[in-house]
Amino acid sequence: MPYGWFCVLLSEELENGTVTSVRRFGREWVIFRDDEGNVGMFEPHCPHLGAHLAIGGKIEGGLLRCPFHNWGFDHQGYCRNIPYASALPGKLIREPALKGLPVVEMNRMIWAWYHPNGDRPLWEITSVPEAIDDNWRSRHSQLFEIRTVPQEIAENSVDTVHLKYVHGQAASLDINSTYDGQLRTTAIEGPMTLTDANGDKVDCLFSVHFEQIGPGLQVVRMERHVKLIMLITITPAEAEMTRLRFTFLHPDYQHDTVRQAMLEDLIEEQIGWCGPYAGVLADLPIWDNKIYLRTPLLCDGDGKIMEFRRWFAQFYA
Ligand code: FES
Ligand SMILES: [Fe+2]
Repeated sequence: MPYGWFCVLLSEELENGTVTSVRRFGREWVIFRDDEGNVGMFEPHCPHLGAHLAIGGKIEGGLLRCPFHNWGFDHQGYCRNIPYASALPGKLIREPALKGLPVVEMNRMIWAWYHPNGDRPLWEITSVPEAIDDNWRSRHSQLFEIRTVPQEIAENSVDTVHLKYVHGQAASLDINSTYDGQLRTTAIEGPMTLTDANGDKVDCLFSVHFEQIGPGLQVVRMERHVKLIMLITITPAEAEMTRLRFTFLHPDYQHDTVRQAMLEDLIEEQIGWCGPYAGVLADLPIWDNKIYLRTPLLCDGDGKIMEFRRWFAQFYA
């Protein structure tokens, strides 16, 4: 399992004053949001006598209250109140009682920093201003749970040959990535002709700017007569079960039916619901069933797979 920032929930999936449990990074966590909106994510068992904090735990007075003896914990994991004790034990004043993960809310998503050795965050999660821009709209795809690891999903975007055989892309593309620390960027641009909703041919420039930030986030900025940003989040749930979700951000084209239709086509293609280009749905059976070959048998027409793997290796502790 790689380390990095991973989207553990969408912000809208955790309302103020609620507690839930999730399985991420191969284990269970309690995750809650207090009345002021602060989020905490911790190992789920109470350090007092071991009750499960998400089973009957509640937010009361701004604290997560354990269902067993009502100890109260804040979003940083400190025990702030034991209703029947005259004084908090000194250890509870000095250090957090709950063991948890660093959590940040960004791009309307809740991100946790996971590192198998508990190391502190090594970079910041990238902010995408359009995600909170009132002139932009956002929608989430369904969640795909795939029997694979984050590296295999990410490798897809340097595997240029599969774009033809899995996704039906006509021309083969040369994809050159630039690697810089936790960042991988690539850009593709070229002319293309589209058929619009009225059946008219439209010449336009197709451009894709792709940025991967660590193992858990890809930001893809596309332009093809309309603008579309995809936030692709890749989160390990179990050692070999990965959650993949696309979040689409786009300007509000409601006033412009031709553009609106072009936007819908572009979005549906990315998923693979329609269109000549089969989107991510076409990858799923491959990912679900393939194995990882440490020394693959490559040929000169293959994409730059080993270069990508050398970059990705930094995310393993
Ligand atoms: S077990 Fe949680 S307060 Fe006692
Ligand atoms: Fe693919």
